[in-house]
Order: sequence, then C-alpha cells, then structure tokens
Amino acid sequence: MAQQIEKVGVLGGGLMGHGIAQVAAEAGYQVVLREVDEATLAKGVAKIEKQLARAVEKGKSTQEDADAVRGRIFGTAHYRELADCDLVIEAITESLPLKLEMWREVDEIVKPEAVFATNTSSLAVIDQAAVTGRPERFVGLHYFNPAQVMKLVEVVRCVTTSQEAFDTALEFARSQGKLAIPTKDKAGFIVNRLLVPYLLDAIRAYEEGVGSVDEIDEAMKAGAGHPMGPLTLADFVGLDTLGSICDVLFEEFRERRFARPPMLRKMLAAGWFGRKSGMGFYDYSGDAPQPNPAF
Ligand code: CAA
Repeated sequence: MAQQIEKVGVLGGGLMGHGIAQVAAEAGYQVVLREVDEATLAKGVAKIEKQLARAVEKGKSTQEDADAVRGRIFGTAHYRELADCDLVIEAITESLPLKLEMWREVDEIVKPEAVFATNTSSLAVIDQAAVTGRPERFVGLHYFNPAQVMKLVEVVRCVTTSQEAFDTALEFARSQGKLAIPTKDKAGFIVNRLLVPYLLDAIRAYEEGVGSVDEIDEAMKAGAGHPMGPLTLADFVGLDTLGSICDVLFEEFRERRFARPPMLRKMLAAGWFGRKSGMGFYDYSGDAPQPNPAF
C-alpha cells in the first residue's frame, strides 16, 4: 500500500529541480525547494514564476491558479525546513560524492518514515540508498527535461526498495499526470541507455564530417520525426550532464557506444556546457541559436 504524501521536499532548483517542484505544486502538493544559497534559490524560483506567468498569458491557467501553485512552493537554503516532508526528491549535480554527502545530512533531519528519491540519470540508486538509514524507503524517480512537459517518469526500484515505497513512488508520479514506467536499477535505466549512445553517435558523426551541426539536426527532425535534433538535444540536456552520464555508463558496460567522444571532452574543457552556459553546439547569445562559430 502506498504512503500518504502531502509535503514534498525538492533538493536543487536547477534545470530539473525547478521543474519537479513546479509539477508537484501543480498537482496540489506542498513543496519545500532547497538550494545551496539565497541567490541560487532566487534563480530557480524565478524560472518557475516565468513558466507560471507564461501559462497565464497563453490562457492555459488562470492568475488565481498560478498564484495558488506559487503559494504552495516554499524556498529555503536550509535542510532543516525539510524535516516534516513525506517525500524528498534530490535533483542536485550528477556527482555521487556530492549526493552521498547531501543524503547523509538530510537523513539525520527528515522524519524516518519519509521516502527518499533520486532523480539521477545514470548513477546506481542502491549506492545512494545505502548511505541512508532507510534503504528500504529509497527509490529512483527519473524525470525528463522539461519536467513540466515530458510525460514520462521512470520509477526505479533498487534491491532494498520495499513494495510500499515503490507503490508510493508510482502513485506519486501518476498523481502528477505522468506516465510512470517501472525500471530496474541498471545504469541509464531505459531511456538514457538508448538515448545517450544516439547523442554520442551524433557527435561522432559531426566529428567525422557526415554533416554540419544544423544539417545533422535538421536531418533527424525531418527524417525521423524527432522534435529536436540530437545536437540541439545534447545542448538542452547539458553537455556536462551528458558527459557525466556517459562516463557512468562506460564504467558500467565498458562499451564503445558509451565512450565520451574527444569533441565532447574538448567542449567541456572550453566551458561550453550547452544551452545553460550560452554556448555548446550552438551559440545562444542572440535571438535564435546559431551553430557555434568556432566550428
Ligand atoms: N516549462 C513549461 N512548459 C514548457 C517548457 C517549460 N520549460 N518548455 C516548453 N514548454 C511548453 C511550451 O509552453 C509549449 O506549450 P503549448 O504547446 O501549450 O504552447 C510546448 O511546451 C511546446 O513548446 P515550444 O512551442 O516552445 O517548442 P517545441 O514545440 O519545440 O517543444 C519541447 C519544446 C517540448 C522541449 C520539444 O522540443 C521536445 O519535446 N524536445 C525533446 C525533449 C527531450 O527529449 N527531453 C528529454 C531529454 S533527456 C532527459 O531529460 C533525461 C536525462 O536524464 C538526460
């Protein structure tokens, strides 16, 4: 039987965390959004407010509803505000040491019956569950970017996850109007196991001169019906995140299809993290993205 969830903690208000917080508040949950400091928190909250205002402008929501959603989100820079949350979802940087350090601290503060979830894209869920005092109440809840739009949430059961915690996570995902698909705790789960080699292959195709950046993207949009071309999508996911995911997958499977292409390594060394940093396969400094002028 699923546990009752009323208050949800979200750790991290970045690309994924702000969207997860918004989706939970839209589904009627009270949300505590925690960021490292007030300035970073303000950026995350501003992104939510922008999306809520856009929905009102488009007539998809009323001002009253948007205000109610905003009113359900409480921002903080302190873990202590998470103490009485029923579910805590982490969406911090894709780094195992950082996640472990964070869980050790949060586990001390949050009530013992609460369920913990990681939004990791690729790291093993059990590695995080094992550092908490509640490995049986630990799951993966993997949302997709933008969380407000993408229908899927992968619900990941690790070896220690209890049936009750798993049912709680499934029901929580469905209560937000998401398609909840159960997956095993295998690196990359379903989507990234298939999507990441495709994105890496698009980078290799560009390296080998098969087409230009925009030719590769336009070809996949028009030829395969994808909403975004692979190089646009790589920028959208974040090249740093893509690099972290492919390293984890390569470490796990030792297969070339998961290996970091040299070009990705060089772009990261240059500080080009994709859309979020303003430069990746495309330059985002103008009105419309243009292929990176350095290529
Ligand atoms: N928040 C809320 N709504 C948003 C939004 C956001 N951040 N971004 C877009 N939207 C809404 C728009 O408001 C618009 O709504 P209406 O149709 O009601 O007007 C709708 O989504 C479509 O947006 P746009 O018209 O601006 O642009 P689009 O048609 O190109 O769609 C997109 C944008 C939904 C992002 C689409 O391009 C798409 O589906 N791209 C693929 C995204 C994808 O593959 N995501 C998964 C990445 S992998 C991942 O996340 C997992 C991981 O671990 C790495």
